[in-house]
This record gives sequence, C-alpha cells and structure tokens, in this order.
Amino acid sequence: MTMQFFAPRGADGSPMRIPQSFRRTVKWLPQIGDIFPRFVVDSTHGLLDFWDWADGHWVLLFSHPAANTPVCTTELGSIAANRADFEALGAKALGLTVSSIDEQVAWHKDIEDFYGEPIWFPTAHDPEGAVSEVLGMNHAKEHTEWPIRKSFIIDPQMRIRMIFEYPIFIGRSIEETLRVIEALQLRDNTGAATPGDWLDDDPVIIADDRCELEVVRTFGSVSKMLLPYLRVVRTDDKRFRMRTR
Ligand code: BEZ
Repeated sequence: MTMQFFAPRGADGSPMRIPQSFRRTVKWLPQIGDIFPRFVVDSTHGLLDFWDWADGHWVLLFSHPAANTPVCTTELGSIAANRADFEALGAKALGLTVSSIDEQVAWHKDIEDFYGEPIWFPTAHDPEGAVSEVLGMNHAKEHTEWPIRKSFIIDPQMRIRMIFEYPIFIGRSIEETLRVIEALQLRDNTGAATPGDWLDDDPVIIADDRCELEVVRTFGSVSKMLLPYLRVVRTDDKRFRMRTR
C-alpha cells in the first residue's frame, strides 16, 4: 500500500522543513477540507489507484468490519439497491475492510442472491489495516480486530466534505449519505445552506445577504424572512433535484 500526501508548504510556497523528531510523532487525522491522499489497494475490481478510479466523481469511501457479517451485509445491500441515485448524483462508492478479496467476492455473491441487486461498486482489501489506521478507522476501544464504520464523502476535487463514524453494531443510513451528497451539490451550485432534516423538496436557507434579484435568478422564486436571521426560499428548479425520486 502506498499513500501520497502533499508536502506542507511555508507562507512563501517553498517546502517546509519539518524536524525529524516531529515527523516521527505527528499523526494526520483527516478533517473536512483536507485533500484526500492518493492510495493504491487491491479490490474486488482489481488493483485500484484511488485518485484515478475516482476521476471527477463524488465518492463515498466507507470502512466496515468484515465480510460475512450481518450489519455489513445490510449496508452493502442498501448501497447496491440505491445505484440509480448514486449515478444520478455522479457518485461512486468504495468499501474497505480487512477480509481477503476471495472472501469478499464470495460474500458479494450471497448479497446479490439475497437482495436481487448486483454489487456494482468495488470493495478493497486492507490486509494489515494499514489504510484504515491512516484514515482513523481503527478505534481500539470499540474493537481491537476490526475497523469501525467510518464514511468519507469526497468531492471531485478530492476534498473531504463530510466524515461520519458509527460503531460496529449500528448500521449506517445510505439515505442520509445520499441526502448529504445532494445537499453539498446544492450548496456548491447555489450557495444555499440546507436546514436540519432537509429533504429534497423542502425550502433551503439563504445564509448570506444576497439581493432578492439574485435569489430569484438562482432559485426561480422569492425568499421569505422567517426570523431576522432565518431566510428561506423554495425552488422547483429541476437542476437542483438530481435524485431519482
Ligand atoms: C456486523 O454485523 O456487521 C458485525 C458483527 C460482528 C462483528 C463485526 C461486524
């Protein structure tokens, strides 16, 4: 496994000189806004270079404990069943776990038979948990053998846009993952913020002081002040409704 990070740069743009002792002790913990490192792993679709594979897409990268386990089975089944929405959002999915490729391939076959949906996305093998370690997926207090359920949403510029961590015995909501990708795309396309519990036909929030003309031009309708600090707008514009439902 190789991982490539950008060399840190000083204020004048030249590479920073980091003392050896610091290099040995510092540990990168991925944060929202970081560029995701390039790495190469073996996967159920063959050798996979993460940046090349992602190639202009949004990505859900998710760790899960192991093949042939019940909660993981339901998570992969749900991603499989939501293929049309991933495609509508221009998003790919990549799983990561410690199980061998042979185990994962056989397990995918079981899931496909059970759910009647093809596993259209690759899942990678992380033999010693080395990639998981770099990405902060190994939480020894939760489990010493398996990675937790950690998900990254990464944009086409390879920037981390969302991180969430779930314990081993609690399955993630793929619906929530898709909701966040859609909300992030809406944010990038219009500058709108999305309210708590936002679903795709709900009004969105204008969290800046743009003029009403600009609001109408972007959203096709006028905004409404609900509170002095809460301004919302409805939009029926189909450009902002990428999902299939
Ligand atoms: C699971 O259900 O996915 C699971 C169960 C036991 C250990 C790890 C994962």
